[in-house]
Amino acid sequence: MSDRIYCDNAATSFPKPPDVLAAMQHYAETLGASAGRGAYREAIEAGEMLTDGRRRIARLINAPSPESIVYTLNCSSALNLAIHGVLRDGDHVVATRMEHNSVLRPLHLLLAEKRIDVSWIPADARTGIVEVEAVRSALRSNTRLLCVNHGSNVTGAVQDIASLSSICAAHDALFLVDAAQTIGHIPIDVREWKIDLLAFPGHKGLMGPLGTGGLYIRPGLESTMRPLIQGGTGSISELPEQPEFMPDRFEPGSHNAIGIAGLVASLKWIEARGVDALREHDCSLSAQFLETTQKIPGLTIYGPTDVTRRVAVFSVAIDGLEPSELAALLESEFGILTRPGIHCAPFAHQALGTDVTGGTTRISFGALNTLDDVERCTTALRELAEANATAHA
Ligand SMILES: Cc1ncc(COP(=O)(O)O)c(C=O)c1O
Repeated sequence: MSDRIYCDNAATSFPKPPDVLAAMQHYAETLGASAGRGAYREAIEAGEMLTDGRRRIARLINAPSPESIVYTLNCSSALNLAIHGVLRDGDHVVATRMEHNSVLRPLHLLLAEKRIDVSWIPADARTGIVEVEAVRSALRSNTRLLCVNHGSNVTGAVQDIASLSSICAAHDALFLVDAAQTIGHIPIDVREWKIDLLAFPGHKGLMGPLGTGGLYIRPGLESTMRPLIQGGTGSISELPEQPEFMPDRFEPGSHNAIGIAGLVASLKWIEARGVDALREHDCSLSAQFLETTQKIPGLTIYGPTDVTRRVAVFSVAIDGLEPSELAALLESEFGILTRPGIHCAPFAHQALGTDVTGGTTRISFGALNTLDDVERCTTALRELAEANATAHA
């Protein structure tokens, strides 16, 4: 990848820290066992590795116990577990128009089956930020769930979780936060922010491999939640019922142990740097990107201009160029890897008015991008905007 710059970290982070690959190789070569499925040393060690990962994630988000963390295969499966797990017929849900399809689609299925009602909260057309007051006025006496995308995968907008949490608590609704674009990038405190359910991927800001993710479930809530799937857990195997205790209630089937081995290593990598320092780096990349692109004629950058209200995910457009044409030029002429289109967030693009142009081109920086990478991106955007303006003059 030496002459190529990976700028698609909102999809999955790349490259991964070398220790992640080493831990996966170590697991494959020396353990290989499925946790909880054998009494021999390797299986016990695999179980201990899973517990170690839970402890580290719990510490990272200030969860009260490691058992409140359930491993999933990605953020989508965590969001589905949360949504289908808590909602019952007749419930009302409040969700923002910035949600990803992993929230929109499960809600739409339940809506189509006429089992729930949903109020969609609009977002600012330029930034993607949602007004807290709009959320307050949408909450009803039967609102069971408030779903909020913490950081947008389209504009980078970061919602005001602290304010949203206090109005949610006042209404007795459950608070589900999609931390797909913020975990590992922004400090998260589930206790301070009174978050009931936090869905997260292991493979984006946490720097772990694909196939990892998780759901934090506030202790006490699990008994009211329906597991999506039932099956073997290696615990109380003599009973045909799914165990009620955590995390087994929501973790039937063999784990992605090789992926979790990588995730544990990436969590150590995150701890060694500290999320505050990673946030500072993310803000410095955003600040430089915004400063250098704001003055380029013909180039539009969507999302907040205040770096404290965003992550380093940028939707960009050049007048007269299709999003896929811009992405293709960035790759073929500059070796810059981006993602064009709707980014699995159709309502967010409707909010920006970019649904009619086939979406935008997304440039998303990660922990391993540098200020030099940002400069190469902004230089490329300037050259392409100028060339395009000349061609159309
Ligand atoms: C905001 C948001 N939520 C959820 C997801 C789904 O994550 P995963 O790919 O881990 O299922 C994504 C993925 O890009 C996302 O950006």
